[in-house]
Amino acid sequence: MLRFLLNDSIVNEPGVDADLTVLEYLRGPRNLCGTKEGCASGDCGACTAVVGWLESGQLRYKSINTCITLLGSLHGQQLITVEHLQDGETLHPAQEAMVNCHGSQCGFCTPGFVMSLFALTRNPPEPATDRKAHIERYLGGNLCRCTGYRPIIDAANQVLDTAAPTRDKFERNAQETINRLSEIEPASEGNGFYRPRNVDELCTLRARYPDAPILAGGTDLSLEMTQRLKRFDKVICIQQIADLTYLTSDKDHHYIGPCCTIADLVHGLQYLGRDLVNLLHRFGATQVRNQATVGGSIANASPIGDLAPVFISMGATVVLQSIDGKRSLPLEDFFVGYRQTQLLNNEIVREIIVPRSLPVAKSRSSPTSEGSEAGSPIADTLSVLKVYKVSKRIDDDISTICASFYLQRQGDRIETLRTGFGGMAAVPKRAHALEKLVCGKVIDNALIAKAGAVLAEDFQPISDARASAAYRLQLAENLFRRLCIETGPESIVSRVGEHV
Ligand SMILES: Cc1cc2nc3c(=O)[nH]c(=O)nc-3n(C[C@H](O)[C@H](O)[C@H](O)COP(=O)(O)OP(=O)(O)OC[C@H]3O[C@@H](n4cnc5c(N)ncnc54)[C@H](O)[C@@H]3O)c2cc1C
Ligand code: FES
Ligand code: FES
Repeated sequence: MLRFLLNDSIVNEPGVDADLTVLEYLRGPRNLCGTKEGCASGDCGACTAVVGWLESGQLRYKSINTCITLLGSLHGQQLITVEHLQDGETLHPAQEAMVNCHGSQCGFCTPGFVMSLFALTRNPPEPATDRKAHIERYLGGNLCRCTGYRPIIDAANQVLDTAAPTRDKFERNAQETINRLSEIEPASEGNGFYRPRNVDELCTLRARYPDAPILAGGTDLSLEMTQRLKRFDKVICIQQIADLTYLTSDKDHHYIGPCCTIADLVHGLQYLGRDLVNLLHRFGATQVRNQATVGGSIANASPIGDLAPVFISMGATVVLQSIDGKRSLPLEDFFVGYRQTQLLNNEIVREIIVPRSLPVAKSRSSPTSEGSEAGSPIADTLSVLKVYKVSKRIDDDISTICASFYLQRQGDRIETLRTGFGGMAAVPKRAHALEKLVCGKVIDNALIAKAGAVLAEDFQPISDARASAAYRLQLAENLFRRLCIETGPESIVSRVGEHV
């Protein structure tokens, strides 16, 4: 039995299809048509709603794209739709601000924007984020073709300027909502939608139904239904398994549970440097980052995914688990062909283990200064992770190329380089020939030219709608040059910088 809070009413749904999306449910049987359908693929935000859930007894809220969220995943949570924001005859401050600032013209995008504004009022900015960036992050997943955005940003500023949103009816009713959500018992199955409570139950189900897809955030799997019109009569949902949602570290490694979302990673991996955080902020948009998981990003084996190149460059290991036990393999060996992996159909991605630093090169014993970045003083000796995502848009766009470099340099000589590239081959992949060429070499223009040549040995990219093969190869060379400039001492910048 599926049981959740729809606005302020508990609903029980014994018989909904396992693959029904929240948007289909709202606009179909519920007739709540304020939530709009635009793209049905998570790209436009017209279908944005807000989900409330309990974490350590406290209510938390996040915005989601209802078109790529399966209804069964809402068990035990609250779904807030645009129809419920108003308090009696009084508009919610997020609605009021849109009216006052003329944030709506044709109105199609407006309910989605209002829900994103509502989510904005419920979540503080991330550390060291100014208001402009905070607003842009919350609105980056919503498209408007009429207003030019300025009035909507004015509305966001107005909402943040007033204290009212935090004293709205949701705040007044918070304790009652907490009580009602606490009373919902976990349910392990409903009409083919399975919700295992722990990893053992999950492995048993995986062995019993090897063809049933695993649902983590659903940002990828849902597209099978909404874009490819596939139907699934069984789905195994893993979001609710607390044992799969963690991000811990010891002195040598980070351990990442597969259900860790991209939003969780942004908080957990801040200290790995601004580059990685910037990349994570460019992963889809807020609604996608709130749902998308690390395990889903690795398991779907997208050649243009943004996490695998980074983790490969850092020498990550993936742990797989089945009813028969666990096995580990280097992440770079996990991907075997276009969207093909070594995952057996009774296995799950159980953990990603990421070393905290590259082993120091054997050829020299050099101290390291971790985490130096562009913008901070350039150290003579450093060990640094640099990540570059090139896409047509800054926000909410898939990579043309994602390149990650884990570099150790002493003076103007590269000690060690480990790479990870997405968008250059059918799988995310290291550039072995490049790494071999540059290790132990002094950085100069001749080296960069040779790097361009060996990248063509490493990769034979395809031409597609995003970029031609030649463009991708040139881009990869340019990104290597950029790495040298951004991390190099003055001597390197003056030697190789004039070509940029
Ligand atoms: C609008 C939009 C924007 C996007 N932008 C980006 C982007 O900028 N960068 C990027 O890299 N990706 C992007 N994506 C792709 C997607 O969000 C990511 O790949 C995401 O990490 C998938 O995670 P998920 O939890 O949603 O996976 P799901 O959709 O739940 O699952 C994806 C696949 O992995 C399997 N799976 C999930 N978890 C496990 C597990 N633990 N063990 C075994 N199998 C598992 C599922 O069965 C399914 O086949 C975007 C997607 C959308 C819709
Ligand atoms: S309809 Fe476009 S994001 Fe859902
Ligand atoms: S007001 Fe028309 S799309 Fe935004």
